[in-house]
Amino acid sequence: MNPSCAGGDHAGVLLERTAVRWLAELVGFPHRPGAGLLTSGASMATVVALATARHQAFRDQGHDVRETGLYGHRPLALYVSAEAHSCLRKAAELLGLGSRYLRTVPVDAAFRMDIGELRRLIAADRRAGVRPFFVAASAGTVNTGAVDPLDDIAALAREHGLWFHIDGAYGTLGILADDAAPRYAGLERADSLALDPHKWLGVPVDAGCVLFREPGGPRAAFSLVPPYLRDEDAGELGWFSEYGTEQTRPFRALRVWATIAHLGRDGIVRLVQQTTRLARTLAELIEASDDFELLAPAVTSIAAFRHRPPTLDPDHAEA
Ligand SMILES: Cc1ncc(COP(=O)(O)O)c(C=O)c1O
Repeated sequence: MNPSCAGGDHAGVLLERTAVRWLAELVGFPHRPGAGLLTSGASMATVVALATARHQAFRDQGHDVRETGLYGHRPLALYVSAEAHSCLRKAAELLGLGSRYLRTVPVDAAFRMDIGELRRLIAADRRAGVRPFFVAASAGTVNTGAVDPLDDIAALAREHGLWFHIDGAYGTLGILADDAAPRYAGLERADSLALDPHKWLGVPVDAGCVLFREPGGPRAAFSLVPPYLRDEDAGELGWFSEYGTEQTRPFRALRVWATIAHLGRDGIVRLVQQTTRLARTLAELIEASDDFELLAPAVTSIAAFRHRPPTLDPDHAEA
C-alpha cells in the first residue's frame, strides 16, 4: 500500500497508467500511452505543462533551455484571461518567464476570454519583439465556472504557433453534462489539459492530473535518469518520474482508480448532470428573487450571486 510510483513494474504504476487513460477517455481528450501523469493538484500540473511548453518553444528555435536557461533569450509572452487561476502566474514566475510577460486578456460579460483582445495582445507583442508562445484557456473558472471559447482559442493558437493549454482543474467534467457540453468544443485540440480529480469528481486530496497531446514533450522537458536509477527494463515509456518534477511519487492512482471504478462512467455523468442542474435551479431562484443578484450565467456547477436587497439600493434610501 505504500509503494513509490516513480516507476517500475508494479500495481501502483499500472493503475496510474489506467487512471490517466480513464480520465482522458472520460472527457474525450485524445490519449497516447505515456501522455499524462497524476500530480499533487492542478498547480503542479500547470508547472509540468508550462515547463514542457517552454522547453518546446526553445527547441523550435534550436535552443535547449535545460542547458542554457533563459539567459540571453528573447522574452516569451503567455496569455491568460483576467479570470484565470493564480497557479498560472505562479508557474510562470517559478519557471523564470516573469509575470511581466504574463498578459491578462480581458473577459466578456459572461467572464469568458475576449478573443479579439487576445488577438490584439498577440499582435502588440510581436510588434514589440516579444515572442508569444503559450495561451491558457479556462474550462471552468474558479470564480464563476465560465468556460472560455476553446475552439476559437485553439484556432488562434494554431495560427500563431502557440502552445494551447487548458486549465480544466475544476470544470473539465462539465463536458459530460448534455447542455454544457457544446461549450467545451475544442477541448480535444489542446496541447495540454490540467484537471483535478480531487475537485468535481470528489477524489480525496491529493489527486491532480495533466494530460498531453504528445507524450514526448514532458519526457524531453523532465527526463533525467542518474546511473543509480537506470533501469534497463523500464520499457518504451520509461518511468513516470521522467515526465514531471517528482522522483519518489505517492500511490495517488488508487483513489482515482477506485472512485472511477466505483461510480462508472454512468455514475460520473449522473453526478455531473445533477450538480449542473442544481446550479441552474439555484440560478433561476436567484433571478426570481428581489433580494439576490445573479453575477454570472450558471454554466457548470457554480452559481455566483450576491445578496442585494432593494433596501440597500441608494434610490430606495432616498425615497
Ligand atoms: C480553475 C482552477 N485552476 C487551478 C486550481 C489549483 O488547483 P490545485 O489547488 O489542485 O493546485 C484551482 C483550485 O481551486 C482551480 O479552481
